[in-house]
Amino acid sequence: MICLRDGRGTTLPGNMHSFEYRNGSLFCENVDLAGLAAQTGTPAYVYSAATILDHYRRLDEALAGVPHLICYAVKANSNIAILNLLAKEGAGFDIVSGGELFRVAKAGGNPAQCTFAGVGKTEAEIREALQRGILAFNVESEAELAQINRVAAGLGVKAPVAVRVNPDVDAHTHKYISTGKSENKFGITFERVAAVYEAASKLPHLHLRGVQMHIGSQITEAGPFAEAVDKMLPLVCQLKIRYGIEYFSIGGGMGIVYDPSLASGAPGWWKSDASEGRLTVAEYAAAVVPKLKALGLKILVEPGRVLVGNAGVLLTRALYVKQSETKKFVIVDAGMNDLIRPALYQSFHEIVPVAEPAPQSPPAKVDIVGPVCESGDFFAQDRELPPLAEGDLLAVMSAGAYGAAMSSTYNSRPLLPEILVHGDRFAVIRRRQTPEDLVRDESLPQW
Ligand code: LLP
Repeated sequence: MICLRDGRGTTLPGNMHSFEYRNGSLFCENVDLAGLAAQTGTPAYVYSAATILDHYRRLDEALAGVPHLICYAVKANSNIAILNLLAKEGAGFDIVSGGELFRVAKAGGNPAQCTFAGVGKTEAEIREALQRGILAFNVESEAELAQINRVAAGLGVKAPVAVRVNPDVDAHTHKYISTGKSENKFGITFERVAAVYEAASKLPHLHLRGVQMHIGSQITEAGPFAEAVDKMLPLVCQLKIRYGIEYFSIGGGMGIVYDPSLASGAPGWWKSDASEGRLTVAEYAAAVVPKLKALGLKILVEPGRVLVGNAGVLLTRALYVKQSETKKFVIVDAGMNDLIRPALYQSFHEIVPVAEPAPQSPPAKVDIVGPVCESGDFFAQDRELPPLAEGDLLAVMSAGAYGAAMSSTYNSRPLLPEILVHGDRFAVIRRRQTPEDLVRDESLPQW
């Protein structure tokens, strides 16, 4: 949504400029990425604090028409410095594990503003969340309601819960990140929700505090959100009257622009039939806020990607250029273990050289690939890019969401550093792992 630059020398109107060329080099805010790479090494994730804050504030403003709480979806980027940035803005958090709850607490977030989602919460996680005093569990099944009731009974408390409703709306997104259709494992079928609330209301250790929905991720049109809200409204009214619920969470899922050349609505970057539109937070809010006003409930949203996605890049260096009979490969030092989205979702990430290419340099088709021993280890295939040579620095754009958070040490590649830029300063918010870190928790059997 808030794309910072199209990589071809023009900027998109109305957007922030946290990544832009200045004097021939790509900057993040006021930090030259070439200089930064010389200090921190590559590969590395680089995030712009100003961009994250700008996105958060825009969304907050767009939702001003209703009482609301933005619960940042921690799974998108869970570095405690990012969580701390948002906690200081007053954000709540949407968590899916005890680990994420630990991170939020560590980052100074308020557990009382945390919703706990996910289909497989363990007994220990439920207990921990109750002890820390979270806002509510987003409950995904009747079995889970019973389990939460049991754990709460053991602690002698009432557990705050909201049921996640599956509204059976098509979000027109990639099948792996569509969640609001009845064939998905998430939530409780719309038709059964009223009966589930009635049954839950009889469980003595539950406090029916809200209702929740989430239809998917990387949704680039307002229509599915509006459709889902429309479908939910009568049910939500009924739950408010009957059980006195306090909030309606409309989930996350707002998409961002990954490929600026498609942002005008041309065919999409998914291999499916989706198209990449440009859904601004203002358009999103305009589609749902008027419908929600009359409810008289607090509205929760759970955005992840829209806050952090375009605020981050993966900085990588070309190691080798290899020409085969049919293709030219640029082999870079980052791999699919550092950003798995292209391999997993066939997703498009814009790639730009850190040194601004001369305007007349002729583009050529290349594959940008990593060093991992898998054919799926690529960042771009048959991509037209300016001439690239060994040693060139590249920025893989829009890597702030589901980049570091989904990274692994596959091929025994240490996890990358994360760098947070703020104005003309930067801080290492996670250091680069060492080979020693890789084996720290392993041991030889003593037999
Ligand atoms: N709420 C719930 C219940 C969710 O399941 C998710 C994401 C969110 C909120 C936040 O969604 P967002 O605003 O970030 O779209 N790894 C995939 C995305 C998986 C999304 C999972 N759920 C990717 O890289 O595209």
